[in-house]
Amino acid sequence: MSVASSILNSRTVYRRTPNSRTLSRSSESLPNPLPPTSILIEVHAVSLNYRDNAAGTVVALGSHAPRFAIGDRVSPILDQDAITGDEQTRRWLGGEFDGVLASHVVMDEQVCIRIPEHLDWTEAACLPNAGLTAWSSLINAQGELPAGRTALLQGTGGVSMMALKLAIAAGWKVIMTSSSDSKLADVQAVGPEGRVQGINHRSEPAWEEKVLKLTDGRGVDLVVENGGMESLVQSLKAVRKGGTISQVGYLGKQDTAALAGFVSLMIDKTVTSRGINVGSCREFERMNRFIEMTGLRFDDVIGRVYGIDHIQEAPEGLQTGSTIGKIVITLK
Ligand SMILES: NC(=O)c1ccc[n+]([C@@H]2O[C@H](COP(=O)([O-])OP(=O)(O)OC[C@H]3O[C@@H](n4cnc5c(N)ncnc54)[C@H](OP(=O)(O)O)[C@@H]3O)[C@@H](O)[C@H]2O)c1
Repeated sequence: MSVASSILNSRTVYRRTPNSRTLSRSSESLPNPLPPTSILIEVHAVSLNYRDNAAGTVVALGSHAPRFAIGDRVSPILDQDAITGDEQTRRWLGGEFDGVLASHVVMDEQVCIRIPEHLDWTEAACLPNAGLTAWSSLINAQGELPAGRTALLQGTGGVSMMALKLAIAAGWKVIMTSSSDSKLADVQAVGPEGRVQGINHRSEPAWEEKVLKLTDGRGVDLVVENGGMESLVQSLKAVRKGGTISQVGYLGKQDTAALAGFVSLMIDKTVTSRGINVGSCREFERMNRFIEMTGLRFDDVIGRVYGIDHIQEAPEGLQTGSTIGKIVITLK
């Protein structure tokens, strides 16, 4: 069914107050009619990264938006230019475009993806950023998630926890680092007995040696690297010969002196080091097929859910870093 015009004239929008962690609520007008290839999404849940990500229901269609029907459950992709992955530009929601913390958002249909039916709204909202980044970090050059590998995941934040779930579903063994013993105890319970091991990188600063011990001296197949310059050389020591480092973040101190030995180690160990930039619509679809096929759920890696009445507390919750996994706001 095609609905040529928007059924609403306005939406409620939450925007960050400049220089503050509070949000301001306002009413803004919606285009009516919708641009021809756009869809109007009623937002159910928003997950917070340093950008926000939404999942919601299609409630109106532009005159030329044949990919979706009213009632479809969808998410907009974070990088609005990344359709196939071959695009040479990048424009983010919450960057070049508005974020998605609003009752409704208008998106071009080509940047929206159907979400797996078995996921609830909070789980679905974790897919466009943390989920897709985790997927892109783990897949091989053919875009597949190979079975039975070993990964080192740094930290217990949203990306690492989504990567943990995907990796476990693919039969991987996982080693996680954290600054907190209690977080490590909690994440080990996410996987089957013995498949997730933890290292406190604060109490064990030479954590790469522990990784080698846990892998019988071989090293892991892949590292999801979140530290950047501070940890990169240690990650190279922790990965096996011919392994992969997926560079996702740079949360540590960015001091070039810490990179001493990087090039020779990388050559000696024939390591592939690749930058990760969330992912494209086509990768999002491939990830969703994997999630549907395995029936994977993410409810156990959502650290905190804020209802609409507690929305003001969510940005502060993100900043404290006390939560394992994802922070989500429900709008309905
Ligand atoms: N490249 C991309 O496409 C992409 C996409 C999304 C996010 N990111 C980036 O990836 C990083 C992780 O994102 P996220 O959403 O998972 O963040 P998050 O939910 O805020 O989690 C960050 C966690 O990383 C750990 N951590 C902090 N400093 C660290 C360090 N120096 N070395 C290793 N681990 C450290 C901490 O875990 P413990 O509390 O357990 O110690 C912290 O809770 C951020 O830098 C983010 O900007 C990149």
